[in-house]
Amino acid sequence: MAERTQVGIVGAGPAGLLLSHLLARAGIDSIVIEDRSRDYVENRIRAGVLEQGAADMLDEAGLGARMHAEGQFHDGIEIRFQRRGHRIDFPSLTGGKRITVYGQQEVVKDIIAARFAVGGTIHFEVSDVAVRDFDGDKPRIVFRKDGQPSEIECDFIAGCDGFHGICRLSFPDGVLTAFDRDYPFAWLGILSESPQASHELIYTHTDDGFALLSTRSPTLQRYYLQVAPDEDIGEWPDDRIWAQLQARTALADGSFRIPEGPILQKGITPMRSFVVEPMQHGRLFLAGDCAHIVPPTGAKGMNLAVADIRNLTAALVAFYRSGDQRLLDGYSARCLRRVWKAQRFSWWMTTMLHLNPADSPFDKHRQTAELDYVTGSEAAMTALAENYVGLPFNEPEL
Ligand code: FAD
Ligand code: PHB
Repeated sequence: MAERTQVGIVGAGPAGLLLSHLLARAGIDSIVIEDRSRDYVENRIRAGVLEQGAADMLDEAGLGARMHAEGQFHDGIEIRFQRRGHRIDFPSLTGGKRITVYGQQEVVKDIIAARFAVGGTIHFEVSDVAVRDFDGDKPRIVFRKDGQPSEIECDFIAGCDGFHGICRLSFPDGVLTAFDRDYPFAWLGILSESPQASHELIYTHTDDGFALLSTRSPTLQRYYLQVAPDEDIGEWPDDRIWAQLQARTALADGSFRIPEGPILQKGITPMRSFVVEPMQHGRLFLAGDCAHIVPPTGAKGMNLAVADIRNLTAALVAFYRSGDQRLLDGYSARCLRRVWKAQRFSWWMTTMLHLNPADSPFDKHRQTAELDYVTGSEAAMTALAENYVGLPFNEPEL
């Protein structure tokens, strides 16, 4: 079966779905294909923090109703070290900006519902996906749907298929340069049915390692613990997880305790920084995690995907309105400028907050001094705050 559309999109994560939605609002037709089921992508627990600009974009695109009803708007975060908490206030340091805590799977649900409400096409559970002929002006996506060979002919292909997808790997040899960094730790994340421990997110640094307290709702909490990269989840029964969470978040005066509850889900996520350059070749454009991933300490992954899609949408709209290719040509460079700043911030937050087993006594003192500085100097707090709430988008210029 062959279908025809203007933009063929591989991947129904935040990047692919948002692109399809924004293009439809601009009158541009697209088809999304996804190798997982709708149920799987709607329930995959991942990111939770939206920058001010990303939340504004969802609002402007008519996707904000449930985010406003069920999301939480936070005016700051706490950084806790040496058993003392230090709050960083976002609005006063950034001219009024804040963050929205709203699960990525909720964003995904909202966009899928919006696409289906206007007759949009998303093919779930496809297999054997390949992208072809993007060197010329008639690219194709081939795949199997219900076991049958299928094909999408399009003007452009958007590779939004995440870090393990096929689009990046389909670039001809020699086009891409990859830059990466591995970290000597991973995150064990849990979802717990329990009351909120704190109204705002708490990032802690201790001699036992890093911990993060985040939330999904007043009754559903998302907590993370630094663990070894090769950690076996089987070694982490629930009571060990709670004991470590309590130990790593305790305050000197004994006044803080996390309310415990049933653990509904647990998993280990490796941490890596990764970027490929360029993010385009011919008529294939990469966006989101398939082009770059960040360690989650800066809460930047989903936000970077949203920023890429803002750029790609603007470039495709300019092309279809007037045939102007300049924004498409500059897509990669415009995205990468901001991507590298988010990489820097994510690397910095990660190295500042985690316990690195290879650190020398000198490194440990330097790290404590850094935490002390960043929580004590208004200039340093401002730098953290403006990155955390999100740097300005690089608006396209023609
Ligand atoms: P994905 O969400 O990975 O979507 C890609 C889609 O493509 C998937 O649905 C996949 O199934 C599909 N796919 C893959 N291969 C194929 C194929 N061959 N054919 C068809 N479809 C395919 N980011 C933040 O901003 N804030 C946070 O607080 C945050 N916390 C995180 C916590 C954790 C534990 C993790 C793992 C990530 C976190 N992130 C966070 C990162 C964030 O989840 C990702 O950056 C985001 O999902 C990127 O969106 P994407 O659409 O580019 O990729
Ligand atoms: C989350 O809520 O999942 C979350 C929050 C902040 C981070 C990473 C993850 O830095």
